[in-house]
Amino acid sequence: MKRLEGKTALITGAARGIGFAFAKAYISEGATVAIADIDVARAAQAVDELGPAAIAVEMDVTKQDSIDRAVNETVSALGRIDILINNAAIFTAAPIVEIDRDDYARVFDINVAGTLFTMQAVARHMIARGGGGKIINMASQAGRRGEPLVAVYCATKAAVISLTQSAALNLIGHGISVNAIAPGVVDGEHWDGVDAFFAKYENKAPGQKKREVGDAVPFGRMGTADDLTGMAIFLASSEADYILAQTYNVDGGQWMS
Ligand SMILES: NC(=O)c1ccc[n+]([C@@H]2O[C@H](COP(=O)([O-])OP(=O)(O)OC[C@H]3O[C@@H](n4cnc5c(N)ncnc54)[C@H](O)[C@@H]3O)[C@@H](O)[C@H]2O)c1
Repeated sequence: MKRLEGKTALITGAARGIGFAFAKAYISEGATVAIADIDVARAAQAVDELGPAAIAVEMDVTKQDSIDRAVNETVSALGRIDILINNAAIFTAAPIVEIDRDDYARVFDINVAGTLFTMQAVARHMIARGGGGKIINMASQAGRRGEPLVAVYCATKAAVISLTQSAALNLIGHGISVNAIAPGVVDGEHWDGVDAFFAKYENKAPGQKKREVGDAVPFGRMGTADDLTGMAIFLASSEADYILAQTYNVDGGQWMS
């Protein structure tokens, strides 16, 4: 028995990386999935790889009309949305004295407002059609504590943890469960960008920061996107019906809470 048989999911930022791995895992569990991403070419490429259980949807989580259009397109194509994963986000780093106001606003707009208003649009759909749903927000170990060079990104992920708690308490009356996943360090294109920031600010050779953070993980290596799929399937399944407002660390033992 597949655990998401007949379910439909909208996953933001699913054209690559962790979101793509979630889409693949959901399809293998019987779901159909909307790959919603600002990078439409990459989303189309993802759908080519995933096959007929996936559709590509253009979506910029910072624009309300784009959010509404993506939700409507997904409902038209798949019939309904049972599961939302708010996965789209970007990273930034700078010492406090160098943080740029425009960069701060851009990162908060995608990581925090994008998560909130996508959650709102999908919750409105779920409430209108009845029957509840599951929402999973992508937090991070960065949301659990500050880091000297990562103030803005850490603050956005702390906000995602808080929004998850409030939204869960507000939406459970409609049968909508909201939870979050907090990964640690996950290898991929995202972390190539993170590595480049640290090469600049900590004067490290390219790839050095990646090796250091991987060695520091109690499990003994960086995570992979596939390491996170079990939790994403579980939280979307009926096995997690009594769970809400939680943020689960899936990080090889980095953070204990
Ligand atoms: N990779 C890690 O180490 C790590 C660790 C902790 C948390 N996370 C979180 O997991 C999630 C996925 O991370 P990833 O490593 O796959 O990142 P990634 O950079 O590989 O993928 C992010 C995706 O989001 C899309 N995107 C960016 N801006 C968008 C916008 N405005 N609207 C719609 N889509 C947009 C990008 O096109 C891309 O496809 C993010 O929320 C990230 O913060 C990642």
